[in-house]
Amino acid sequence: MIVTSYNSKKLAKKVARKLGAPFVGLKQQAFPDGEMHLTYNNTKAKVKHVIIIESFQPDPNETLLRVCMMAEGARQNGAKKVTVVAPYLGFMRQDKMFCTGDVQSNVVMGQMLSLFADKVVTIDPHLHRVRSLKEVFKCKTLCLSANDTIAAYIKRKFKKPVIIGPDWESYQWAEAIAAQVGCDSTVLEKTRYSGRKVSSKLLKPVDLKGKDCIIVDDIISTGHTMVEAMKKAKGARSVHAIGVHGLFVENALKKMSKFDSVLCTNTIERENSKIDVSELIAQCFL
Ligand code: R5P
Repeated sequence: MIVTSYNSKKLAKKVARKLGAPFVGLKQQAFPDGEMHLTYNNTKAKVKHVIIIESFQPDPNETLLRVCMMAEGARQNGAKKVTVVAPYLGFMRQDKMFCTGDVQSNVVMGQMLSLFADKVVTIDPHLHRVRSLKEVFKCKTLCLSANDTIAAYIKRKFKKPVIIGPDWESYQWAEAIAAQVGCDSTVLEKTRYSGRKVSSKLLKPVDLKGKDCIIVDDIISTGHTMVEAMKKAKGARSVHAIGVHGLFVENALKKMSKFDSVLCTNTIERENSKIDVSELIAQCFL
């Protein structure tokens, strides 16, 4: 077994250490005409199972092509089995034709990966209108959740937590995490007007006085959802944002500067990816 990666090197190396498997790096270059040129650094070892650990951030479009090429390249170099672990799986929010003529990209991504991977493993994918990865992929899939890891982190770091889900979709995480932490939770109703404009309404009031309010979502992208949700956290002694996947596009962190802390897991490698999911990934290969 070997583990390889381009976007998620730190996480992949941690997983490799936990599995006692070698990490093999990958060089990405471009041919003079711009075409992608990939080379595995060490192909001497006889390898049966290659685990590609690759987050779809940064550069999701290029990453999709890279992952397909890495998987096929692994087979060309002798692998019998290829598992793609996409800790953050991109394209999943494009789960319907939002306007006439739209391309529903989640299906395209799923079909592409299914051509090259024996199995795709991911963490908390955006399953909203699509309820199961089976609707997207033809190959085997495994859907992990960072809930336990996030709950353990909250238990260690916060004395009086209350969990808020910023919209109905996020309540599945908020409720499960709150149950494990043993604290209250509530949900907001979010209305999205565009990719950059949302508003939220508190549906079930919860006592936040003197509490550490933690707003938990699967994805923090532009940060608008979190900023709107924060407006409903009146009375809390501190307000924190935790995202499973921290995309932080368009100055999201600057917009979120009023939060006491903004954290995410290392499904995407960032300075604030303080919640480590390497054990979660390693466990499914042990
Ligand atoms: C959407 O349904 C997701 O669960 C997140 O709430 C959303 O992607 C966050 O986006 P943004 O940070 O741009 O508001």
